[in-house]
Amino acid sequence: MSLAPFGRRRLRVTGRRAIGAYDVLSVADPDGPAPDAGQFAMLAAADGWGGLEDERPFLPRAFSVARRHPDGTLDFVLEDVGPGTERLCALAPGEDVWLVGPLGRGFAPPGEGRRPVLVGGGVGIAPLMIWSDVLGGPTALLGFRDAAHAEGAALLPGARVATDDGSAGHHGLVTELLAEEIGFALRSSQARTSGRRHVEVYACGPPPMLEAVRALCAEHDVPAQLALESGMACGFGACFGCVVPTRDGYVRLCVDGPVLDAAALEEVA
Ligand SMILES: Cc1cc2nc3c(=O)[nH]c(=O)nc-3n(C[C@H](O)[C@H](O)[C@H](O)COP(=O)(O)OP(=O)(O)OC[C@H]3O[C@@H](n4cnc5c(N)ncnc54)[C@H](O)[C@@H]3O)c2cc1C
Ligand code: FES
Repeated sequence: MSLAPFGRRRLRVTGRRAIGAYDVLSVADPDGPAPDAGQFAMLAAADGWGGLEDERPFLPRAFSVARRHPDGTLDFVLEDVGPGTERLCALAPGEDVWLVGPLGRGFAPPGEGRRPVLVGGGVGIAPLMIWSDVLGGPTALLGFRDAAHAEGAALLPGARVATDDGSAGHHGLVTELLAEEIGFALRSSQARTSGRRHVEVYACGPPPMLEAVRALCAEHDVPAQLALESGMACGFGACFGCVVPTRDGYVRLCVDGPVLDAAALEEVA
């Protein structure tokens, strides 16, 4: 697990580009540790982030590291849903952010003989990008609400796409693509010889999608690792604001996750 240096780092924004409904924010972090896929960072704009009238965000916000380039540049994929993401989506190259990270536990490698299948919903594509880089471009299935959001699939070339409204790719839910993928895997000769557990699913997306992935994988005895979200105030275990229930009791998602083994969860709420 890659550990965050103590304290927050002031880093320079080097780029921001729109990809469909999302913004990719690039930040120079040449001296920071290389994050593991699935780890996240707490981000805040250095200016315009509270302290003055009408500056509401105050607390930093959690974002998955989507990609790390060889020069240490970190990419984040942002969806503007409120004041914090609105401010971060308005940053221009030359401005600074405060970053704490990398934080949390990321994805574990697939088990022996298992083929990874990545499943993303909306901005949940972010941690799958860096994981795809590590795994060398495995099968990826991505679901979006419409064609504008589906433009984000360009960040994970070769992925199969589903949209809720049918305006791009398969008309339906990404879990329908996953059901096909699991069904195909179970029918293949490799599956017959090596057993059912030859696919390992890695998923990130909205809770209903993750719950559908969890239930589908449980039904077919397919192991899955889920990158969850919860409201995070500190990001490093101090506030207990991020707890989620597991079969073994509550865990702090920021230190015990955000990636959890699907088998540890009764359901994704
Ligand atoms: C580990 C982790 C990784 C994340 N990675 C990304 C990412 O890569 N890209 C991205 O765009 N977003 C990501 N998020 C979500 C992001 O942190 C929130 O969208 C952000 O905090 C919203 O802040 P805001 O001030 O813009 O909006 P707010 O006003 O704080 O929230 C807007 C709306 O989103 C809901 N919301 C806020 N935070 C969360 C949350 N964590 N879980 C569920 N609902 C929430 C609020 O209830 C509200 O309805 C991640 C969250 C976590 C915990
Ligand atoms: S966000 Fe503070 S304990 Fe997890």
